[in-house]
Amino acid sequence: MLIKKRRASDVLPSEITPESIYRDRRRFLRTSALAAAGSLLAPGWSLAKPMEALEPLGELPASEFSTDTPANTYEEITTYNNFYEFGSGKEDPMRLAPGRLEHRPWTVTVSGEAENTGEFGFDDFMRGLTVEERIYRLRCVEAWSMVIPWAGVPLAEVIRRARPTSRAKYVKFYTGYDPQVFPAQAARGMGFLASIDWPYTEGLRMDEAMNPLTLLATGLYGKEMPSQNGAPIRLVVPWKYGFKSIKSVVRIHFQETEPEATWNQLAPHEYGFYANVNPNVDHPRWSQARERRIGEFFKQDTLMFNGYQEEVAHLYAGMDLSKHY
Ligand code: MTE
Repeated sequence: MLIKKRRASDVLPSEITPESIYRDRRRFLRTSALAAAGSLLAPGWSLAKPMEALEPLGELPASEFSTDTPANTYEEITTYNNFYEFGSGKEDPMRLAPGRLEHRPWTVTVSGEAENTGEFGFDDFMRGLTVEERIYRLRCVEAWSMVIPWAGVPLAEVIRRARPTSRAKYVKFYTGYDPQVFPAQAARGMGFLASIDWPYTEGLRMDEAMNPLTLLATGLYGKEMPSQNGAPIRLVVPWKYGFKSIKSVVRIHFQETEPEATWNQLAPHEYGFYANVNPNVDHPRWSQARERRIGEFFKQDTLMFNGYQEEVAHLYAGMDLSKHY
């Protein structure tokens, strides 16, 4: 595992925790002390290069669904990413996405079993929706986690506007397909990236999609979404493993049957369709009982539904979650 050390010239403290409302001085000092110690850094800790000019989103209403657990730093959230379209390394997205992934023009297509379908330019798509701040825990199936102050809109509002028909039982999401933008889509041969059936897709049951926690995020830390985090718009489903939170969404499709989803198709025994965070059901290759919060040294217990049990447990009443993993 490659561990990079901070160089004093690389970043200003104000770039690490830019907005005063988010600044947690003690946490920052602790992170700095760890950086000085060098050897205690969590995997993937490295330095963000301010490569993109991202617009502030203005004052965002706070949400009752936000956690008060201190958020990870902007730097941690934007330098340790999974975005396989840019490679499988955690630092590939921050190196390769900015500059390649153009945030505008961006079209979101709404299709399938709904009355109000069509192609919407990003700004039209967002018109009339109130972007709010949601500070959520994110738990990756790889047993690391973060706390991220997203900006976004409830998916339920977008769905209501689309007026799904009674046949719409599921929602499928697509990331774009363009090998010029996403280098891994041009991968050929026997490698892992070439085995992925692009574009990346994901799906939710309609009641999961309508749950008030489910977010379409358009930014983080009060600014537009960085490319490596899934600009300009991505899904965030905080009680499910991170792979359900599909990035850079170009299509939202309503359908009657359970959608095919990238990881589920690739390895159905490892990545279930539901993918609810569940410390009692291990992934075949690693335990899910504990997790390492990026930036912290000690592991912590993983919570059922990533701690969102109260909001979502009722969705799975009567289901055997060791079968429907
Ligand atoms: N979306 C797309 N299109 N491609 C991806 O590779 N990776 C997923 C998810 N969304 C992924 C994706 C995984 S495995 C995780 S853990 C989260 O994005 C990571 O989000 P983050 O990089 O913003 O923390």
